[in-house]
Amino acid sequence: MQDSFAAKLIAWHKHHGRHDLPWQGSHNPYAIWVSEIMLQQTQVATVIPYYNRFMQRFPDIFSLGAATEEEVLTYWAGLGYYARGRNLRRAAQIIRDLYSGRFPSSLDEVAGLPGIGPSTAAAICAFTFGQPHAILDGNVKRVLARAFGVSGYPGEKTVENRLWQLSRSLVPSRSLETYTQALMDLGATVCTRSKPRCPACPLENDCVALRNGRVGELPSPRPSKALPQRYARLLVIRHGTDLLLEKRPGPGIWGGLWSLPETEPDADPAQVCLRLSGQAPEKVQRLPGLSHSFTHFRLHIEPLEVMVTRKPVRTSESPGQIWMPVDDALHAAVPAPVKKILSALILAA
Ligand code: ADE
Repeated sequence: MQDSFAAKLIAWHKHHGRHDLPWQGSHNPYAIWVSEIMLQQTQVATVIPYYNRFMQRFPDIFSLGAATEEEVLTYWAGLGYYARGRNLRRAAQIIRDLYSGRFPSSLDEVAGLPGIGPSTAAAICAFTFGQPHAILDGNVKRVLARAFGVSGYPGEKTVENRLWQLSRSLVPSRSLETYTQALMDLGATVCTRSKPRCPACPLENDCVALRNGRVGELPSPRPSKALPQRYARLLVIRHGTDLLLEKRPGPGIWGGLWSLPETEPDADPAQVCLRLSGQAPEKVQRLPGLSHSFTHFRLHIEPLEVMVTRKPVRTSESPGQIWMPVDDALHAAVPAPVKKILSALILAA
């Protein structure tokens, strides 16, 4: 997937991406900078008339730096997030005074200006100077979380780091500008937060979230403040009416109880099935998810039904594993959420 990701986006952009926007086609860093700041929290269609008016009144760094804050904000009125306008003027003054009016061209210098975060700096350097930097704005986080099945709230550092790592690994060595624009456009027009248009997506055949029926739940929403949120997958590895249970280790939740095998939310269920049952699954499908509160966290469970075709060989079981009929498992020492999952299975049968 890594290799073809950029190629697919670039090919898609040719016919379905955005072309001919007022700030495209020029490599004027000022024009691109202003557009990227306006686009940070505002959609393209809304930005265009504001952008045109702003550029007419403040065509360069010097005119912007010389303007009063009040006048700049007049041109910003209606766009919202006014700190963006104030920072833009302050940054213009810094560029005028520290860089003799020439827009800096190194990522670190650009990212050091007020109002420019790492992703905006990368986008400006990519569009202006063709520098191969990864971007990661809200739209891109959504695309990557879905395409690669990354669970967890992207505002959380570990999740964000993982997404940055992915974004960096995908940067192509050619057509960098088109790729960067394509990634943004895909997030804004196809891989939208609600009602994504998956059949129109160039990543349709590769998307982990789509394959696992998780498009609606990725990226994971901001956890509520009250309790930390954790995510786990429980695998219902089945052969006919038999299923595989594992004994939970002593420390940790459900210690000593029999439970469904648990995996990391983005582990490959087929691999886990192979390791635990000695065979690859015939079919994997999602079961309805459920949540369970513990004293210190809330656990969101994604159960997956994993069907195997060969009768499991019981002699090869490790001591912590057991195959048993669903009916018996319901009455064994299993945690409440596992009971719920099994009852739903029996009802559905
Ligand atoms: N959002 C941020 N930058 C953008 C751009 N250059 N095009 C479309 N949407 C964007």
